[in-house]
Amino acid sequence: MNTLWNSLEQQGISRGLLEDIKKFRRRYPVEENVKKRVTCPEVPFYGKEVFEMAAAALLEGENVLLTGGKATGKNVLAENLAYVFGRPAHNISFHVNMDSSSLIGTDTFEDNRVSLRKGPVYLCALNGGFGIFDEINMAKNDAVSVLHATLDDRRMIDVPGYDKIELHEATRFIGTMNYGYAGTRELNEALVSRFMVIDMPPITEETLNAVLTELFPDAKREGLNQLIGLFMDLQLKASNNEISTKPLDLRGLIGAIRTIRIGLLPRAAIRMGIVNKTFDIFEKEIVEDIVMTRIPQEWTRKQIFD
Ligand SMILES: Nc1ncnc2c1ncn2[C@@H]1O[C@H](COP(=O)(O)OP(=O)(O)OP(=O)(O)O)[C@@H](O)[C@H]1O
Ligand SMILES: [Mg+2]
Repeated sequence: MNTLWNSLEQQGISRGLLEDIKKFRRRYPVEENVKKRVTCPEVPFYGKEVFEMAAAALLEGENVLLTGGKATGKNVLAENLAYVFGRPAHNISFHVNMDSSSLIGTDTFEDNRVSLRKGPVYLCALNGGFGIFDEINMAKNDAVSVLHATLDDRRMIDVPGYDKIELHEATRFIGTMNYGYAGTRELNEALVSRFMVIDMPPITEETLNAVLTELFPDAKREGLNQLIGLFMDLQLKASNNEISTKPLDLRGLIGAIRTIRIGLLPRAAIRMGIVNKTFDIFEKEIVEDIVMTRIPQEWTRKQIFD
């Protein structure tokens, strides 16, 4: 816990806000049976403004929808928020076949009687959980419409066939969505209106540096700087529409650095993590050229790790 708080304090997140979060935690202590669901995220979220917006909205009882490009930290932020607020987290991956029973629960036959196997939204309602609606725009709108009463001021589960239940006061929902991924849909207005929406900004050089230093404390400064430079070059080209966002893949960069650490040549690793993310041969050439200027062919693991 302390390292996460430290990281937030070091980023200069408003003290008042952090105090309010602590008050929230004191007001809603976690019940013993759900303590194991309060899990510490693997990485701290970097991004003061975005964190402050999300935390302020949640403190005011709002639900938050995080939108933005791939690997902009939406899930990292959602997990950090649940943890910092001291709430059990329920991750709910949305998909096309989602229906109300996968959200709220299904009837099961047990000991000669019908009982409800509680779904994640139901459990959030009971435990004061933070429900993370992952890729919320993958689901069909009518599946999600059962959540209208849950997400607005009524704060209850009100679905035919289920008992009406009120949400615990600490319950919140955080949606994530990546606009324009294959298979995503337009979210309907009624649903969006039930969230405060945060558009995740593109990663800055400073944030990227913080993320990679956190993940690879053993990397050499100069080597890491070239990789950061490479990513920023790609981001600039993508924002000028000279390349698509396919090779602009932070997850891929992180994966590449991991494979360099175990001994792969940097250029081969970057090819797997970045260059080959595009399938267009012309774009691939442009990306290769950018990689060439940052990562010389002769580089080995030694340039990046001891
Ligand atoms: N602001 C950030 N703070 C900390 N880590 C970050 C940040 N942005 C990106 N990352 C890194 O990028 C990786 C991907 O982040 P995450 O899974 O949260 O992305 P996402 O926005 O949910 O992407 P997608 O839309 O593809 O699901 C994380 O493992 C983390 O290492
Ligand atoms: Mg995600």
